[in-house]
Amino acid sequence: MGSSLKHEFDAVIVGSGGAGLYTALEASRVPGANRTAVISKLLPIRSHTGAAQGGIGAALGNIEEDKPEWHAFDTVKGGDYLTDQQAAAILAEEAVQAVYDLENRGLPFSRTPEGKIDQRRFGGHTRNFGEAPVRRACYAADRTGHMILQTLYQQCIKNNVSFFDEFHLVDVLIEGCKCMGVVALELATGALHVFHAKAVLIATGGFGRMFRTTSNAYANTGDGPAVLARRGVPLEDMEFFQFHPTGIRGMGILITEGVRGEGGILRNGKGERFMEQYAPTLLDLAPRDMIARAIATEIRSGRGAIGDPEQDDYVHLDATHLGRDMLNKKLPDICDFCRTYLSLDPVDKPIPVQPTAHYAMGGIPTDLNGRVIADVEGGVYEGLYAAGECACVSVHGANRLGTNSLVDLIVFGRRAGRHMSEFVNQVDIGIIPADAEDRARDILDKLSNQRSDERAEKIRASMKTIMMDVVGIYRSGDEMAKAVRQLQSLRQATEQVRVGDTGKAYNTDLLELLELQNLLDLAFITAACAHNRKESRGAHAREDFSERDDGKYLKHTLAWLEDGNVRLDYKPVDLSIWEPKPRKY
Ligand code: FUM
Repeated sequence: MGSSLKHEFDAVIVGSGGAGLYTALEASRVPGANRTAVISKLLPIRSHTGAAQGGIGAALGNIEEDKPEWHAFDTVKGGDYLTDQQAAAILAEEAVQAVYDLENRGLPFSRTPEGKIDQRRFGGHTRNFGEAPVRRACYAADRTGHMILQTLYQQCIKNNVSFFDEFHLVDVLIEGCKCMGVVALELATGALHVFHAKAVLIATGGFGRMFRTTSNAYANTGDGPAVLARRGVPLEDMEFFQFHPTGIRGMGILITEGVRGEGGILRNGKGERFMEQYAPTLLDLAPRDMIARAIATEIRSGRGAIGDPEQDDYVHLDATHLGRDMLNKKLPDICDFCRTYLSLDPVDKPIPVQPTAHYAMGGIPTDLNGRVIADVEGGVYEGLYAAGECACVSVHGANRLGTNSLVDLIVFGRRAGRHMSEFVNQVDIGIIPADAEDRARDILDKLSNQRSDERAEKIRASMKTIMMDVVGIYRSGDEMAKAVRQLQSLRQATEQVRVGDTGKAYNTDLLELLELQNLLDLAFITAACAHNRKESRGAHAREDFSERDDGKYLKHTLAWLEDGNVRLDYKPVDLSIWEPKPRKY
């Protein structure tokens, strides 16, 4: 490996999606905290936030009556009561101002004829505590996340944030409970860079690439949580992974819930509107966990649409009654995706869809200001923050509502950025050990010297199959026990894989092996947590324990990677506003 280069900043943010950029914007805005860097594996505007299509939820009440309290309640109920309730209240309250802030910063929202921000329906968002769907999702056609990225990136440039694009996180420098910076690999040169900082925020996004069918980008490999788990940081509620009901059949590419928000209907192979059986009030706008299970149940019961024998059966998302003008105006990217990938026009034909692995509810545990939690008592790491999908506030509980990911990253990215900027103004930078990069260098040297013919592609494919078939929508104990053992063997197998490319510049062999190890560590923790939770709640559906069990499991899981195994403990759920009730829609 090349020699290491050193940098010093007040605040370093790893990840340039919505959470990372909003944090950077806040951290760089306050006088004094003006030395802010963003390290990103990608060019910022290619971050996965760009794939969040349909909207950002906020109770603006522009089209019909709405209240933040209803939004908070929907978030708690949608999360099957594992949501921390004060976090949900903050999310819903601060969403309103956050959306107006985005508007003031230039985000081109779609508009009502009167010029207000337009709002559409989305799953699980209701008026008056569940009475009927409400129009809460503020949107920019079906490019909402993309527009958020563009807006925030421009504002960060204006604030003189330093960007280090195409840098891959290898290590986070933690001594005791204090964070001092990060070490990253510059992909263009193979050089290691040490970023010494007063505060670090991890915002590396999701890790859906552990599943065979996913809406996630190739880059979504959980680098932040995996590196922290290996550094002894716990991860929270990792058993809860969301399947979005409507991915393009066989490809997993997201077809936004906004299609159903605008009136699209799910139909089984017989053309029946099957959601009438599963969620009579909200129908196709029930929460995602319920709809994904309903689709899986229809298909398992032989009522799916039958395709060619190479692919699983599927269902149809019918938008043909919405009309060409409306589809082209409000859902232009979806129309393009269908025309490009399926040679099909949704104006004329229903879209073949299947559930697709979409979103991790769990992740790095944080308090309400983004500080990373170290233990079950709620102690925090000094100078270490997390926000966005890789974090767990926990505001999504066991199942996230659509649009709440964008709200989460804006609201909690902003809170973390503000806290960070105050923190860096109060502390000195301290001294970083001379050997700060040694651990990262050892990791890379070891990988580069591995010699067996074990193939990374084969290991990756096995992981994806195990996660999809055993730790997917439906789960059961015996199979998951086996999956945990298999994933452990796959982790060990990666310690033999030879890196074919011996060069330094853009060594994608090495990068992909690092990413695979990250995914495998997180898959291993996910499977162990899912095996341990012997109940069904939100996106975690056990065939052997089909009921929610509040008596035993109304608690957050904390998981530590220790001595090659997973150690589990629990922390309480904040139930300070609403009493848990059975979930009906
Ligand atoms: O369906 C969608 O547009 C996805 C949005 C989300 O995950 O919140």
